[in-house]
Amino acid sequence: MESTIEILTSNKNHAIFTRALSFTEELGTNLLFKSNPDSFKNAHVTSMEQYSSMYKESIENPEKFWTNIADDFFWKYKWTGKFMDYNFDLSKGNIFVKFMEGGKTNICYNVLDRIVNEKKLGDKVAFYWEGNEFSESKKYTYSDLLKEVCKFANVLKEKGMKKGDRVAIYMPMIIELVVAMLACARIGAIHSIVFAGFSADSLADRMIDGQCSILITADGGRRGTKELDLKSVADVAIAECTEAGLVVSLCIVVKNIKTNLVDECSSTKRSKDGTTSWNSNIDVWWHDIMENVNDECECEWMDAEDPLFILYTSGSTGKPKGVVHTVGGYMIYTATTFKFTFDYHNEDIYWCTADIGWITGHSYIVYGPMANGATSVLFEGLPIYPDAGRMWSICEKYRVSKFYTAPTAIRLLMKYGREFVKKYDRSSLTVLGTVGEPINPEAWLWYYNVVGEERCYIVDTFWQTETGGHMITGLPGVTPMKPGSASLPFFGVVPAIVDEEGKEYEKTIVDHGFLVFKQPWPGMMRTLYNNHSRYESAYFERFKGYYCAGDGCNRDEDSYYWITGRIDDLMNVSGHLLSTAQIESALIEHSSVAEAAVVGFNHSIKGTGIYCFVTPKNGIRFCDALVSELNEKVRARIGPIATPDFIQCAPGLPKTRSGKIMRRILRKIADGDRDVGDTTTLADPNVVEELFKNKPN
Ligand code: WTA
Repeated sequence: MESTIEILTSNKNHAIFTRALSFTEELGTNLLFKSNPDSFKNAHVTSMEQYSSMYKESIENPEKFWTNIADDFFWKYKWTGKFMDYNFDLSKGNIFVKFMEGGKTNICYNVLDRIVNEKKLGDKVAFYWEGNEFSESKKYTYSDLLKEVCKFANVLKEKGMKKGDRVAIYMPMIIELVVAMLACARIGAIHSIVFAGFSADSLADRMIDGQCSILITADGGRRGTKELDLKSVADVAIAECTEAGLVVSLCIVVKNIKTNLVDECSSTKRSKDGTTSWNSNIDVWWHDIMENVNDECECEWMDAEDPLFILYTSGSTGKPKGVVHTVGGYMIYTATTFKFTFDYHNEDIYWCTADIGWITGHSYIVYGPMANGATSVLFEGLPIYPDAGRMWSICEKYRVSKFYTAPTAIRLLMKYGREFVKKYDRSSLTVLGTVGEPINPEAWLWYYNVVGEERCYIVDTFWQTETGGHMITGLPGVTPMKPGSASLPFFGVVPAIVDEEGKEYEKTIVDHGFLVFKQPWPGMMRTLYNNHSRYESAYFERFKGYYCAGDGCNRDEDSYYWITGRIDDLMNVSGHLLSTAQIESALIEHSSVAEAAVVGFNHSIKGTGIYCFVTPKNGIRFCDALVSELNEKVRARIGPIATPDFIQCAPGLPKTRSGKIMRRILRKIADGDRDVGDTTTLADPNVVEELFKNKPN
């Protein structure tokens, strides 16, 4: 079969597409993008007709579609009641979503025991771990992992952890992170993983919100030339928890780095070997408690609707939202999206460059790939360490066939030039995935032409922490690609676009509207931890009867969806959502600050950069020292990922007469765009000129 992937030339009016078009013309490439005809011969889906008929069944008869899939999993007891039950309409009562309720299973059993015992893949490598340094690598088979997970599950049980208890995890990208989360899942404890780039305050906030009594961490982590002193951060966070009345009874520490860590601030005692701050009341080494532990552990049989994990995502009010995913639906959804979106086959070597601390890592490093018995790369380091060829050297080393990264990483590597890519053999690659933000055409074409050698299929996957798995995505070798569009809905997903009033557009072409989903899919979040009313108000209040994604969206004549960005006060910085309100409140905490406003601006690598306008209190001089203190404040409150790109002095902010800050104008100033539009509604229009004058270079 000749598998020709065609770039459709429609939707010429769309800004992104127009730019893609001109860029392509500049390159002199014609608009037909071809994939290797052999790559997708045995694809799970081989034609648009097949996609359409499977899609039709998945939304008209979700029970039939998903039951076929769920049957391949192990269920201690099958569900007997309704396959799917839900209410998306607040006027009819509380919002709820349930799939396969009453069915009993265990996701850890399904990604380990089932793969080893039923699929007979025990000797297959689950993870090639590649360390920060070239010289470090290890491999772990499914059988290895099963043993380690059982051991650690026994440790957790021994420490009193049981079904429903929350366990916080703050770790670098090492295999113990995977072991820890699966061990929690095995005994029914709810894991709450906090990305290791978050600060002590952020870690403490999340532990307090989830009332986590145990923390699992490491003495440190390595990211390029930097060493992350995770244990000291954990110490501070635990102290903050204690202050807030939360008893953290145990901190399990993986010994991950060999060099001495010095922590002057810590009042806790040093460990026996004198390397890490240590509080012998609660701290224990992972390797100590794993000694002489039984490597068999019975699973806790969980209801399909029991919670599996909490993962926090930014909320527009500033307080992070604890998204809750449940066992059964999340399991079948991540497994299925992984299989189809990457057209996964047994012989594939798959690599997702995300950190497990984000949803992409949860769903597409751990649960989705493992549920398929896949072999993955787990990488501890950075894409540009020791140089910008590292990613491609890893692709060459392991013969990676399916690769998944974010536009921000592509843009970063683009800057270093194509020589770093060309140095390595990438002939094993067939599918290149992207996630996190709309991909700009320059990055798309570089990914396609340079990385993929005009041979690979690009899957642009739109989804969210809340959705658990892919929502809008192409299927390799089948869906014609348009750079910048995530294309069409995945099986079981029913998107729609609504206007300001929540009225759904019936016509195909929609120039601008809001993306919503009309019915649930198995991997959807069920609630926000201990805050169901916020779940209802954040996602179901604005547009009655729909799940609101919070993204602006267009639809073209081929029914392709084009995400245009957030409609709330969240900024997408390097593919991670950050709340402007949360950064503002960190800035205002500083005693010299009277007022602060934060907006996003166009950033060539991050996509969106963080621009802060700060009004000092009367009599306070705005100086470099203040700027660095403010930077520090944000880093301490949230973490290095939220470090401002610019902090500018704003003697006054553009406000309406009723005192509302006009962010539209601040965004223009941040972007250096003098076309600010109508300023007549401002209380004092002169502040705009003043702010342009004060703009740092
Ligand atoms: C954005 C990440 C366009 C979007 C998995 C969404 C995207 C938010 C894409 C969720 C994409 C993610 N195209 N926009 N392919 N993927 N987004 O929760 O704004 O960290 O709402 O989940 O990222 O970010 P989150």
